Amino acid sequence: MTAVVVSGAGRVFDGGSGAGTVALTDVDLTVGEGELVSLIGPSGCGKSTLLRLIADLDAPTSGSVAVFGKTAERARKDQDYGIAFQQAGLLPWRSVRANVELPMQLRGAGGLSGRAERAARSAELLALVGLTDFADHRPHQLSGGMQQRVAIARALARSPRLLLMDEPFGALDEMTRERLQDELLRIRAATGAAVVFVTHSIAEAVYLSDRVVVMSPRPGRVVATLDVPLGGPADRVARGIGLREDPAYFERVSAVREVLHSGDAASDRVSS
Ligand SMILES: Nc1ncnc2c1ncn2[C@@H]1O[C@H](COP(=O)(O)OP(=O)(O)OP(=O)(O)O)[C@@H](O)[C@H]1O
Ligand SMILES: [Mg+2]
Repeated sequence: MTAVVVSGAGRVFDGGSGAGTVALTDVDLTVGEGELVSLIGPSGCGKSTLLRLIADLDAPTSGSVAVFGKTAERARKDQDYGIAFQQAGLLPWRSVRANVELPMQLRGAGGLSGRAERAARSAELLALVGLTDFADHRPHQLSGGMQQRVAIARALARSPRLLLMDEPFGALDEMTRERLQDELLRIRAATGAAVVFVTHSIAEAVYLSDRVVVMSPRPGRVVATLDVPLGGPADRVARGIGLREDPAYFERVSAVREVLHSGDAASDRVSS
């Protein structure tokens, strides 16, 4: 079973007059169960669009998307995935705690029906992202990075088999960012969740991923897929700083950077 299969997907946005914006052309992407795949590429190349197609927040104009062998729509209705996007997307009138508990209150498999059960889970998640003391605050009382951490906690609320994350750590300071990267690896090790992870950081993509997918400037296409054979998530967390200073890690960072800088010419360097 694969988590995500995108086949020949394209997305053209209607410009209103004349030719529309071609955001994606002919994108193929397969994400295995438990696999972490990063999408990296210049601003405007269609990374968020691709993630939105997988999440069924938008529909492709050509090609198809399957999530756990179902249509993207079915997977959305079954709440098969958690999402944490570029904008935190919190409900301003709900407290931090109530935002995290929201997915648990929704019906369907994995919902937590008891108040006490939900409170215990949200407390655990808020501790994980370091926001225990802010549980009763409203989103506008938090910094942008703190709001992002609430969104991450909410994405994890129902222990989904798939996480769709769009620059979730982009607004964070370097220390918090590295801590949450390690948390994401731990969560993967513990839950076996697959992750599609959008980032602008080459180092972050390499540290977290089994594979890094490099996209071209608009219209977005996949120009290369690079394997990152640096061990499983538990191994990586155990090695921590050691991994970030390993020559094998630097070699992969350089490889991704070269492909990104060479743009379209990179297509002959596909390693898998
Ligand atoms: N709803 C929309 N209507 C029209 N055009 C859109 C819409 N959403 C995205 N686009 C266009 O599609 C292209 C890809 O946008 P997208 O947000 O996917 O890029 P991105 O790779 O996520 O960029 P960034 O790294 O800056 O977040 C852009 O040219 C953008 O203008
Ligand atoms: Mg984006």
